[in-house]
Amino acid sequence: PQVCWLAPEQTAGKQKPYMYTQGQAVLNRSFFPGFDTPSVKCTYSATVKVPEGFTAVMSATSWEKQEDNTFVFKMSHPIPSYLIALAVGDIVSADVGPRSRVWAEPCLIEAAKKEYDGVIEEFLAVGEKLFGPYVWGRYDILFMPPSFPFGGMENPCLTFVTPCLLAGDRSLADVIIHEISHSWFGNLVTNATWGEFWLNEGFTMYAQRRISTEVYGLAYTCLEAATGRALLRQHMDNTGEDHPLNKLRVVIEPGFSLFLGVNPDDTYNETPYEKGYCFVSYLAHLVGDQSKFDAFLQAYVNRFKFQSITSDDALGFFLEYFPELKEKGVDSIPGFEFDRWLNTPGWPPYLPDLSPGEQLMKPADELAELWAADCLDMEAIEAVDIAAWRTYQLVYFLDRVLQKSPLPEGNVERLSTMYPKISKAQNAELRLRWCQIILKNNLEAEYSKVKDFLHSQGKQKYTLPLYRAMWGGSESARALALETFSATASQLHVNVQNYVRKILGLEEAE
Ligand code: BES
Ligand code: ZN
Repeated sequence: PQVCWLAPEQTAGKQKPYMYTQGQAVLNRSFFPGFDTPSVKCTYSATVKVPEGFTAVMSATSWEKQEDNTFVFKMSHPIPSYLIALAVGDIVSADVGPRSRVWAEPCLIEAAKKEYDGVIEEFLAVGEKLFGPYVWGRYDILFMPPSFPFGGMENPCLTFVTPCLLAGDRSLADVIIHEISHSWFGNLVTNATWGEFWLNEGFTMYAQRRISTEVYGLAYTCLEAATGRALLRQHMDNTGEDHPLNKLRVVIEPGFSLFLGVNPDDTYNETPYEKGYCFVSYLAHLVGDQSKFDAFLQAYVNRFKFQSITSDDALGFFLEYFPELKEKGVDSIPGFEFDRWLNTPGWPPYLPDLSPGEQLMKPADELAELWAADCLDMEAIEAVDIAAWRTYQLVYFLDRVLQKSPLPEGNVERLSTMYPKISKAQNAELRLRWCQIILKNNLEAEYSKVKDFLHSQGKQKYTLPLYRAMWGGSESARALALETFSATASQLHVNVQNYVRKILGLEEAE
C-alpha cells in the first residue's frame, strides 16, 4: 500500500487510474529493494512499461520514450533512496520556462500553466545566485491527484505538488520556492539520518525565505515567516513544549518488529522546519552580515554536495569557516549552546526579527482585536478595507482570530457575512483556517464547509489539524469527524489514514 494506486474516481479527470510513489521518509522499501536510508546515495536507471494512453514520469535527469509504451529513465547524480519517485497516469505537459514544464492531467494543464508560466526561472536563478549552480538540469513540476499527502515533495528534476497550489493567483508559490530550495539543501547536502531532519528542512526554510526576500521583499517574507511561527506555536501548544520531538535532534530508536521502535514518518512536525529555521537564522545572526552568511551557505553546499551529513558535520564546518567565532566560543554561549539547540526540547531560544513585516501584520493584528471584542465596533471594522490584502495577510489575520477563538457569541457569523472573500474562499490555506475557526467556535451552520474541504483534498497538514479540532470539539463535531472519515478514508494516503485513525481512537494506541 505504500505505492499509491488510485482508481479513476480519485483523479481530477475521473477517467483513468493513476499510480505514484512517495518515498520520504521510509516508504520506498516497498517500491524496490535497496538501502532505504538517507545515509546512502546512488544513481539509478529504470525501465517502465505502461498501458496505452498512459505516461510515466520519474525524478530523473534524462528520459526517453521507446516503442511499446516503454519509458527509460536515468538519474546521473547520486541521490538517497527517498528521492526516487515514479508517477503514471493520464498526464500531459506544458512549458513554463527555459528548463521547466508543468505536468498534470489534461483537465488541469491550462490552470497549471497559467499558475506558473514565466515565474519558475526567476526562482531558480535567484537560488543559483545565492547557493551555487543548479546541478539537476531540468526543474519540472507534477500536479498530483487531490489525495497527495504533501504540499510539495522535492523529487529531483520533478517536484510533486498538491493541486491545491492552483489558486489562480500564484499566492502559494512559497511551496515551489521551498521545493526548489531543496535542490541544494536536502537533495545535494542530505541529512544522514531522519533523526536530523532539521538539516534538510531548517536549512531549506532559511533558503526559501532568502529567495523569497530577493523576489518579493523583506516585508512579505517576514509576514510569511510569522505564519510559520504561528504554526510552530500551535504545534508546541498541542504537544507540550517539552515533548521529545520538539528538539532538533530526535532519537529514532530502531524496533525489532513493525510494532516497536519509532517510525521516522511519525516524527514529521513543525519543529524541524520552524525551530530549524530559527537555528539557522541564529547562525546568521552570529555572523552578523547577510552576504558573509550567504557565502557560507554556498561553501557549505560545495563542501558537502552529494554527501549525507550529521549536525556535527554542519556545525563543525560552520565553526571552521568562521574561526573568529569558534575562538569566541559561540557554540557555548549560556542559553544558546549548540548542544541546547539540538538536544533540548522547547521554544527556540532565539527568534529572528520579523518586524520588517510589521506594516503588513499590524493592520491584521488590529482587525483581529476588533473582531474579538464583546461589543463589536462596526464603524472601526468597516473602516478597514481587506480587499487589497494578500493571501498571507489574510492567513495571518485568521490565525490571530483562531488564537482568540471562541469569539463572543455571534461575532464569527458576522465576520463570515462581512468577508465572503474569506468564508467562501477557494484558496486552500484560507479554507484550512476558516474551517479551524468554524470548529473552534462550534459554528454548526458551517460544518458543511469542513466536510467539503476534507472531501476535496487529502494533504496531511490540512487533514490532521481538522480531525484533531473535530475530535476535541462538541458531540456534533465528533459525529462530523466520523462521518467524514468513513466517506473519505479510502481516498487518503495510507499514512494519513492511519494518523486520522489514531486521532479518532479507531486504533489501539501503540
Ligand atoms: N520533503 C517535504 C515533504 C515531506 C516531509 C514528505 C517528510 C515526507 C516526509 C517537503 O519539502 C515539504 O516540506 N513540503 C511542505 C512545504 C512547505 C513547508 C512550504 C509541505 O508539504 O507542506
Ligand atoms: Zn521541505
